[in-house]
Amino acid sequence: METISEWIRQLPKAELHLHLEGTITPPTLVELSMLGNARPMTLTEAQTLYAYEDFTGFLQAFKTVVTELRGPAEYELAAWRMLQGLAAQGVCHAEVYISVGVIFRLRPEEDKSNPDLFPDIFAALERARLRGERELGVTLSWIFDAVRHFTVEEAARVFRLAAAMRSAYPSIVGIGLGGDERKTGSEPFRALYEEAAAAGLRLTNHAGETTGPEAIREALEIGSERLGHVLSAGDDPMLLQELLLRQVPLELNPSSNVKTGVCPSLEAHPLRRYFDAGLMVTLNSDDPAFFGATVADEYRLAHEVHGFSRAELRQLAENSFRSSFLPEAEKQAWIDRIGSVAGA
Ligand code: ADE
Ligand code: ZN
Repeated sequence: METISEWIRQLPKAELHLHLEGTITPPTLVELSMLGNARPMTLTEAQTLYAYEDFTGFLQAFKTVVTELRGPAEYELAAWRMLQGLAAQGVCHAEVYISVGVIFRLRPEEDKSNPDLFPDIFAALERARLRGERELGVTLSWIFDAVRHFTVEEAARVFRLAAAMRSAYPSIVGIGLGGDERKTGSEPFRALYEEAAAAGLRLTNHAGETTGPEAIREALEIGSERLGHVLSAGDDPMLLQELLLRQVPLELNPSSNVKTGVCPSLEAHPLRRYFDAGLMVTLNSDDPAFFGATVADEYRLAHEVHGFSRAELRQLAENSFRSSFLPEAEKQAWIDRIGSVAGA
C-alpha cells in the first residue's frame, strides 16, 4: 500500500495562492546571488534572511528576499525552480502572485531610468513558464499583486499594467492585494477593482488574515472573486452563510497562518470547520520557503491533523480546479481526471 504522501503526489492538484517570491528557498537564494554578484551569499547568510517573529516581521523578510531578485535572470531562475518544485509535488496548474508592487517600490530610480525594467522581467518569467509547460507539463497563470499598505496610486499602476499587458500575455489572468490589512482594508481599491474587472481581469484579495470578518465583507463588497486566508469568517455566522450560498472560493493557507502567528496551531485552524460547513475550500502554501510546508504538505497535514480521508482530499483537489481561473472545459477535464484516481 502506498503512503499517504505518495498518494497525494499522484493526485492532480492546482495551487491558487502562491507567491513566486515566497517559493525561493535559501539554496535557491544562494544560486541567485551567484548570478553576476561579486560576492555570492553563503547558505548561512541566506538562511538568516528568513527569520521573523510575527506577521509584520514576515512581511519585512519577504521584502528582503525580493531585493535579491535584481533583474530578469534572477526572476527566470526563481520561476524555474518554483516550477520544478510544483512538478515534484504533482501540482498540475498554479496561479502565481508576482509582487509587482514591491518591484516598483524597491527601485524607483532604476524604474524611472529604464522603462524596460518590468517588461524584461516579465519576459523572463514567461520563458520559465513556457519551459515549465513544455518540459514539466505544469501550466501557470500570473496574478499581479499590489501591496495594500503602499499607496492607492501604486496599486493603480500595478493593476493598469496588468490590464495593458493582458492582450499580449493571456497568461496574466488577474490581480490581487497582499500586505498588511491592519493598515489598509479593501474599500480604497473599489474603483480600481471595478476597472480591472472591466478590463477582463479576475479579482483575488487577501482578506481576514490579520483582521476580523468585517475585512472579509469589505473584500466581497468591492467584487473580490476569490479570498485568501479568510481566517476570521467563523466569527460571523451571517458571513459564513453568504460564503456558503455563493460558494465563494477560499484560498486557505493553514501553515502560513500558524507560522506568522495569526492562528495558534494547525488544530485551531478553521479548515475542517469550513469544509464540513460546505464552503468552497482550497488548500495552498502561500510562501512555502518561509513556512516550511508545500501544498502537498498541506494535504498531508489535513489528513494527519484534521483527519481528512482520501475522498475528502480528492474533494479539495477538485475544489482547487473548480476555483481556478481556467476555462470551464479545462477545469472539467482536470476534475474528470481526479475522478479516475483510485483510493477513496
Ligand atoms: N505577501 C506574501 N505573503 C503574504 C501574506 N501571507 N499576507 C499578505 N501579504 C503577503
Ligand atoms: Zn498570500
